Amino acid sequence: MLTPAQIHDLPKVELHLHIEGTLEPELIMQLAERNGIRLPWADIEELRRQYEFTDLQSFLNLYYANMAVLQTEADFADLTRAYLRRAQAAGVRHAEIFMDPQAHTVRGVDLATCVNGVASALAESEAEFGVSSALIVTFLRDREAAEALTMMHDLIEMRAPIVGIGLDSAEVGHPPIDFVEVFALAREHGLQCLAHAGEEGPPAYVWQALELLQVSRIDHGIRSLEDDVLVEHLVKHQIPLTVCPFSNVRLRVVDTLADHPLPAMLARGLAVTVNSDDPAYFGGYLDDNFTALTDTLSFGAEEVATLARNAVRASFLTADAQAPLLMEINEWLSAQL
Ligand code: ADE
Ligand code: ZN
Repeated sequence: MLTPAQIHDLPKVELHLHIEGTLEPELIMQLAERNGIRLPWADIEELRRQYEFTDLQSFLNLYYANMAVLQTEADFADLTRAYLRRAQAAGVRHAEIFMDPQAHTVRGVDLATCVNGVASALAESEAEFGVSSALIVTFLRDREAAEALTMMHDLIEMRAPIVGIGLDSAEVGHPPIDFVEVFALAREHGLQCLAHAGEEGPPAYVWQALELLQVSRIDHGIRSLEDDVLVEHLVKHQIPLTVCPFSNVRLRVVDTLADHPLPAMLARGLAVTVNSDDPAYFGGYLDDNFTALTDTLSFGAEEVATLARNAVRASFLTADAQAPLLMEINEWLSAQL
């Protein structure tokens, strides 16, 4: 078994992290006070009692409601810095971070306010926290594709400092095919394309994300295991899957961590990575996910080093930036043996 100190020292890359999902109850309370917002909860204990989820939608309801406290550029920057501080403590070296601008514009916050707030903190992330970073805008698939398309045009016009786009929110009934035009526009502008698929939705949505949106990574993708031809395709092309173990348990995609298909996915040769998704809601950050995997699924140094290497290779870092991280992972592994 690996100790928390050993897990900390493993160079880690986070590829599936919603910045709004790092909004901790304490910060919700502080920002509510700062912005004069009345929350429906009497106190932090009552807020904490809401963190029991039955499925993705039950989580999304709380996730979107809590965002009401995010109002100013400073709020978004403070949220982002709080995550980066925690990521540094976890031994995260590079983070590709999602944000959901539509969740803010629909409640009257300007696109520039939310994007610039997160981006301003990320611009200092390497100097301030030793964590390099990149920003990815995710579109809400349970809203009209026309709204996403308009926002895509706005992001291009304002030269938003983003490396790519993704697709998230309630999956079932909202297939990737609806967003073909948005993703084509992003590709024309040299942006990376990702999509949540195969979290609650069927393998057909993973196929659509690959073939119609031409994504280079699949977020979650664990239901791909239900389709052998899809698994073969994902293995053959080494398409990364950003798996989120704590999220899958808390949203009841799997019953318990002990039942998680991650070992089977690794055994089949899938390019799986471990990520924290919405750590303020799901019981822990990236180091906590890794520690639980070693404790519950008996992952040893070889397995966690493979997961860490997969994440470096699946990242949008250049080959020159990946090389020293891969070397450090090998050094870490040698030191454990
Ligand atoms: N938005 C934030 N977390 C999400 C998840 N796990 N699935 C879909 N949309 C999300
Ligand atoms: Zn997610």
